[in-house]
Amino acid sequence: MCGIVGAVAQRDVAEILIEGLRRLEYRGYDSAGVAILNNNDIQRVRRLGKVKELSDALEVSPLPGSTGIAHTRWATHGEPSEVNAHPHISGSDFAVVHNGIIENHEELKEQLKTKGYEFVSATDTEVIAHLIAEEYKNFKDLLKAVQSAVKQLEGAYGAVVMNRNNPEELIVARSGSPLVVGKGIGEMFVASDQLALLPVTRQFLYLEEGEVARVTRTTLDIYDTDEKLIERDFEESSVQHDAGDKGPYRHFMMKEIHEQPESIASTLEGRIINGEITSEIFGVKAKEIFDEVEAIQIVACGTSFHAAMVTKYWCESLANIPCHVEIASEYRYRKSFTPQKALFITISQSGETADTLAALRLAKEKGFMASLTVCNVPGSSLVRESDLAFMTRAGAEIGVASTKAFTTQLAGLLMLVGCIAKHKGLSESEQADIVHAIEAIPREIQKALEQDSLIEQLAEDFSEKHHSLFLGRGEQYPIAMEGALKLKEISYIHAEAYAAGELKHGPLALIDHEMPIVVVAPKNELLEKLKSNMEEVRARGGQLYVFADKDAPFKEEDGVKVVRVESAHDITAPIIYTIPLQLLSYHVAVIKGTDVDQPRNLAKSVTVE
Ligand code: F6R
Repeated sequence: MCGIVGAVAQRDVAEILIEGLRRLEYRGYDSAGVAILNNNDIQRVRRLGKVKELSDALEVSPLPGSTGIAHTRWATHGEPSEVNAHPHISGSDFAVVHNGIIENHEELKEQLKTKGYEFVSATDTEVIAHLIAEEYKNFKDLLKAVQSAVKQLEGAYGAVVMNRNNPEELIVARSGSPLVVGKGIGEMFVASDQLALLPVTRQFLYLEEGEVARVTRTTLDIYDTDEKLIERDFEESSVQHDAGDKGPYRHFMMKEIHEQPESIASTLEGRIINGEITSEIFGVKAKEIFDEVEAIQIVACGTSFHAAMVTKYWCESLANIPCHVEIASEYRYRKSFTPQKALFITISQSGETADTLAALRLAKEKGFMASLTVCNVPGSSLVRESDLAFMTRAGAEIGVASTKAFTTQLAGLLMLVGCIAKHKGLSESEQADIVHAIEAIPREIQKALEQDSLIEQLAEDFSEKHHSLFLGRGEQYPIAMEGALKLKEISYIHAEAYAAGELKHGPLALIDHEMPIVVVAPKNELLEKLKSNMEEVRARGGQLYVFADKDAPFKEEDGVKVVRVESAHDITAPIIYTIPLQLLSYHVAVIKGTDVDQPRNLAKSVTVE
């Protein structure tokens, strides 16, 4: 949510900053800006809209200078506008870019106004700029001024500060919003995500919570909350250099949909040894914890919450222990029961989702036996703060709509459930069946992708619609929810998902010949029940789009279109059936001409409440 880039170099940095913003644009894209120091003068350009608007402006009037900061914004305080775009300045001396939310900004603003500071934007960030200016009067040192200022901030921040009297340094501060420093040869960079800096370096160091650092071209001094100097080494990044490129695809989303066989294969690699899922892949303490665990609580948001829901079905049927799932923003704000010997699981692509992180911190206070995260970003807050972690290896996901992150989560979660179930006495042959099914996922996804052109044709039927329903039963109900979420977020068609048995308890009233109904219908023990629900829809003129197994007893007829999916194992069917639903929403969005990778009002990695 929002993207930050900064550089201290010996060459002009504008291009590096703009390329970094372009790579982070998926995190926020309503406005962008850059501030560069040139001959002790801070020059700033900001534009409403995407990074392209900013780069066009810089082409017309280039900004020279070798120290600079830049930002792409997802509005929280104050509408998207040029005046609210970052960097924010205090006088002509200080410029700040910031991710997160300063909760006490109103109070600080009032205090600063009494000291003569004028506010021109509606943002909380401008408060940081003026606060640092005020502290600088006392300390005459940028690092000390920032250290003193951040002590007064409540809320979350990842911030980078530049001062015209210190032309070869940036001060960075982190609390609740990630920041990484990248080391080049005789130059140093900062960003909210290493992806921004991959064209210029592969040496990275993440700041820890509460740390403040002074970054110069050749040095990095990190201070903890007690202002003690910290020693930590840079590490070589394993993220692919081309992760920020679309390759032959028109959109990142399509690239990422097609990457799924590979990203699942990579998530499985080295995790199944001699046909067995061993507890070590979740962490050294996992064996002991899985032996003892008697209940599971999972929290997550959005797509990751749908992965949690599928896990509940798997967990209670295979491991035979209770599994509660809850949306993180609900869990964190209610009084809830903490079962004995319960494992608290978070699921998150980014590992930085504010509600999920807050729920984990609450769970620790509530006395859960242990915590485990299933996450795609190494070194993220959830990974660092959990007792156990399973890293999915989806690679960088740039499309705002989650695709490969979801299916790799499911693959990891099925391994987790399989492993816990083993500790709870699942028979060897049942364990072998799960492993067998998991190993077949990449192949089956590849097959499902072959239906792309058929699904593209079906998508035409949806492009003029305003509403749609998605139905599923059992563990396919969350998959129907995920299908509906994908369609609504990228095509803006209202899509709702129901457990098919709920249809006659209300939603059936919506059905007429204008309503497309997507049914996720693998051949399993619930198929006959689902068929009855589909008849209820047909009798009322609804248009059915059925995603069914190759040999399932459905035929194309008036009002019924069928897409065949090859899924040999019931247990992994939720993963395989996700693919055609992703393709459907993608093609509908392309036909409608929406911004597939950066849908309106959304951003990747929701680091604010
Ligand atoms: C939807 C989507 C979101 C995320 C949600 C949680 O396509 O991507 O619903 O799943 O914001 O994000 P993470 O998984 O990063 O915690």
